[in-house]
Amino acid sequence: MRKLVLAVSMLAFASSAVMADPIAQRQAIMKANGKALKSIAAIAKGEKPFDAEFVLAALKTLNEEAQQIDVAALFPQGSETGGDTTASPKIWKDMPGFQKAVDKFKADTAAAVAAAPADVGALKAEFGKVSQNCGSCHESFRLKKG
Ligand code: HEC
Repeated sequence: MRKLVLAVSMLAFASSAVMADPIAQRQAIMKANGKALKSIAAIAKGEKPFDAEFVLAALKTLNEEAQQIDVAALFPQGSETGGDTTASPKIWKDMPGFQKAVDKFKADTAAAVAAAPADVGALKAEFGKVSQNCGSCHESFRLKKG
């Protein structure tokens, strides 16, 4: 728990430091999303014992990161290229669609925190709903690497 709190505050510091670079900032948020989700994946699969406090802390981190996705600030015109971004040009061709995907992700991560899963079954349901956003948005709005 303390480790997580520290990681979150360090992340907050890191994001403010890269504010001027929207590509780096959105990638940092995504990396943190990946880390938070991964930390509870084994629990959701029943491979690790359920720990309500740990799960809730990870979901809160995920939600805090998700709420930081400000489309206008992080995906401004002109940030399609430059850096090693894998953001798809489709984002800028379909801003309303992308915004909708971001809004759904935010709503689902907030709902997962509100649900505060009390057992592995409840976690599994929330985990499924949240992680579906990752795949479907990447499918539509992220270029495959390589
Ligand atoms: C609304 C759309 C959307 C959602 C939802 C989303 N992503 Fe992403 N993700 C992106 C885009 C766009 C990029 C490419 C960013 C770039 O390279 O500029 C990306 C990149 C990434 C990366 C690579 C970051 C890097 O360093 O290059 C990871 C890891 C990632 N996402 C994990 C996740 C996980 C885990 C979730 C779900 C918890 C998630 N994403 C949800 C749009 C989304």
